[in-house]
Amino acid sequence: MDTQKLLSSVLCCFLLSMLSGRQQAVQGNHHVPSNIRPLKLFVFGDSYVDTGNTNKTQFAWKYPYGITFPGKAVVRFSDGRVLPDYIAKFLGLESPIPYEGWKSSSCGIPLLKYGMNFAYGGTGVFDTAFSPNMTVQIDFFEQLLKDNVFTAKDLESSVMNASAESINLKRIHGLGVKKIAVTGIAPFGCLPVLTGPASSFRQCNEYYNSFLGFHNLLLNQTVEKLNVETEDCPFFIIDLYASFTSAIKNEGSIKFENPLKPCCLPNVSGDYFGCGKVDENGAKLYTLCENPKSGFFWDISHPSQEGWRAVYSALQATLEQYFLH
Ligand SMILES: *[C@@H]1O[C@H](CO)[C@@H](O)[C@H](O)[C@H]1NC(C)=O
Ligand SMILES: *[C@@H]1O[C@H](CO)[C@@H](O)[C@H](O)[C@H]1NC(C)=O
Ligand SMILES: *[C@@H]1O[C@H](CO)[C@@H](O)[C@H](O)[C@H]1NC(C)=O
Ligand SMILES: *[C@@H]1O[C@H](CO)[C@@H](O)[C@H](O)[C@H]1NC(C)=O
Ligand SMILES: *[C@@H]1O[C@H](CO)[C@@H](O)[C@H](O)[C@H]1NC(C)=O
Repeated sequence: MDTQKLLSSVLCCFLLSMLSGRQQAVQGNHHVPSNIRPLKLFVFGDSYVDTGNTNKTQFAWKYPYGITFPGKAVVRFSDGRVLPDYIAKFLGLESPIPYEGWKSSSCGIPLLKYGMNFAYGGTGVFDTAFSPNMTVQIDFFEQLLKDNVFTAKDLESSVMNASAESINLKRIHGLGVKKIAVTGIAPFGCLPVLTGPASSFRQCNEYYNSFLGFHNLLLNQTVEKLNVETEDCPFFIIDLYASFTSAIKNEGSIKFENPLKPCCLPNVSGDYFGCGKVDENGAKLYTLCENPKSGFFWDISHPSQEGWRAVYSALQATLEQYFLH
């Protein structure tokens, strides 16, 4: 496997969501009590958390993406809901509006009630050719604060300075955000794009996963250090490695018939953009499983809605610990 390509898919899948810490009551019967519920959710990252920013020329705007929810393709890289949808629900919020959707809408302010999603599919922490990277996403956010689209006083402020990878985290915190959730890297050695050719979707590549474990260790150390340097421990790790692994191993209450086999499988092995592709006569260049719930993965690199639900379910206890204490 081409290491460079793998590395870029790793960076691609770094994601980060953050929450303003203002306490405010919101109606509803949810997990997080209203008196400690964050006011808004802001999401930064890549295709794992994009809920509609990616350019419409991209593949996730096509059938069969979105067939489970909302019933049509609206750029979720899944048949339905993705992680921020579940986290928003946990917080008693609606999934925040995508930045691009807000820009092109005439409805304005009311749409901003739950925060905003700045994530773009195909993005990495570092320079990425065709999508706004993390730096640019935070620029968008900063501009909205400057324009008073979001008011800085809604966000609790505490400024820090930064180095290397932690620069994005510190920058967000410096803009006044009180709680910042950072996702660790998922076990990408389990992605169908790798397990298909190597083991007909039967085995994760543990050798590859061990490198990601190491990356996560470094990320943990960075976050710990940031927390030591900052008041109130604003940073929190969402452990995608453990939660993916538990879901894929069928350790939770949600079971998968085919944990590693994607529902939407391109005819051309390894074609990242193959799900949804048709030839000039409209013939499908992929096969679709009967029940998207049967697999943890939707396409060769993204979980299905049921996959994300299982990940969320594995994460729930630590989310509660973080938000309820
Ligand atoms: C979307 O992509 C097309 C083709 O790459 C490009 O021409 C267009 O400017 C892009 N639109 C946006 C909003 O980035
Ligand atoms: C992010 O993208 C911008 C614009 O393409 C680029 O100038 C910047 O260097 C990139 N940031 C990183 C950390 O690569
Ligand atoms: C952060 O603080 C250190 C000293 O505490 C300083 O040397 C450095 O220039 C600062 N960095 C930024 C980005 O402000
Ligand atoms: C990183 O931190 C998370 C959350 O505390 C933990 O679950 C995970 O095991 C740690 N990962 C590594 C590689 O140390
Ligand atoms: C793609 O593969 C499926 C299943 O093997 C097959 O039915 C279909 O005809 C193939 N599509 C094309 C255009 O070859």
